[in-house]
Amino acid sequence: MSAPLSSISVAPMEGMTTFPMRLWLQVCSEPESMTTPFLRVTKVYPDREIPMTFAPELYELRGVLPYGLTPQFIAGDPLQFLRAAEFMPPLLAPILEINCGCPSPNSLGKLAGSGMLHDAETFGRVIENLSRELGPGRLAVKMRLGIEDPSEFEDLLAAVVPLPLARLTVHGRTRDDGYRGKARWESIEIAAKAANIPVVASGDVLGIESLKQLAETAPHLSGAMIGRGVMRNPWVFEELRSGVPTELDLLTLVNALFCYALLQELWQSHPLKLIARVDSGRIGSPCRNNFAAWEKLTVELTSLVYGLPFLLNRGFKMPSEAISTVAFGRLKILWAYLRSGLPEAFNLPSLTRAKSISDFFNQLLIAANDHPEERIRVTHREEWDKLFAGARG
Ligand SMILES: Cc1cc2nc3c(=O)[nH]c(=O)nc-3n(C[C@H](O)[C@H](O)[C@H](O)COP(=O)(O)O)c2cc1C
Repeated sequence: MSAPLSSISVAPMEGMTTFPMRLWLQVCSEPESMTTPFLRVTKVYPDREIPMTFAPELYELRGVLPYGLTPQFIAGDPLQFLRAAEFMPPLLAPILEINCGCPSPNSLGKLAGSGMLHDAETFGRVIENLSRELGPGRLAVKMRLGIEDPSEFEDLLAAVVPLPLARLTVHGRTRDDGYRGKARWESIEIAAKAANIPVVASGDVLGIESLKQLAETAPHLSGAMIGRGVMRNPWVFEELRSGVPTELDLLTLVNALFCYALLQELWQSHPLKLIARVDSGRIGSPCRNNFAAWEKLTVELTSLVYGLPFLLNRGFKMPSEAISTVAFGRLKILWAYLRSGLPEAFNLPSLTRAKSISDFFNQLLIAANDHPEERIRVTHREEWDKLFAGARG
């Protein structure tokens, strides 16, 4: 059974969905499209070009990876948004998104992110100007329902809905909601019904069940984004395509996670090496839940990081020194989400508090040895939703 909404993509998440995560998600379950986390744009930054690390998919790796990528910017001054847009001509980025939802756009002033939503008239005027400057069908807007109260959404929506935007993505919460409570899908449906432009829902889509509910509540949507759900279940796009949760064996899960840490490590220490391997096709092909494919990728990545090809197996003592604390930290953040998509046996505090990468993987192998099922089902588990109420990462 296929997903009920035609276009489901990865939502932008600052500090999370940077290039190594996007690459890893492509390898896990091949999302069709993604949006970058926002690039902060000021008077002086970016200076002469967009930094290479922001979106190599649009430059060095243009056409190499199969997913579509929309760059997102955040700016306290709309003119700076336009200045940055000049570094990304339509040939590189047919769509550019402006972030009108970030609750705390540090250092950019109070008019950035959700700060744009204070006054519907000004919001409409700014977006209209940007849309006119960029040309029809080029500007995408990602917004919240308002600042304090969802009733603000009606005027905000009326101000932008007649504009020829590429798409309007609505995170169904106000700024004051943060990430708490349920996203208000009914409000997003009002936008989808009113608009002639594609309207995309963001908030609380976590798998096949929630997507079905969203499609029932908001039948006029063009698509949906999955944010925290991709970290709770990186195989979620496989689940949406097949209609059933993905099952993996333990060593596949362990090596997939190890690959995530290794990709983060390479991106920190040798980004050009990683780009070259992706460009040559050695890294980036889908592995899904196939052990042999993850094995091949682990061997490729351990050769690059450790200078010695190996993969993780029961009883294997792994060297820890080649992984930086940054890459290990990224793995632990992913784990903090992912454990809620796994059976309870994996929800061990000692694993979450592991001090080194070898400690982490050795514990994971032991936890899994105790796990009676041969195959591990990765999927949204409602009982762990409380872990994420209000969590921003
Ligand atoms: C850690 C984190 C970082 C985020 N960064 C961005 C961002 O850079 N740009 C943006 O438009 N939204 C950002 N968001 C909001 C998400 O894109 C999304 O709208 C929100 O998390 C609700 O969707 P979800 O329930 O699927 O996570 C971020 C959310 C989180 C949790």
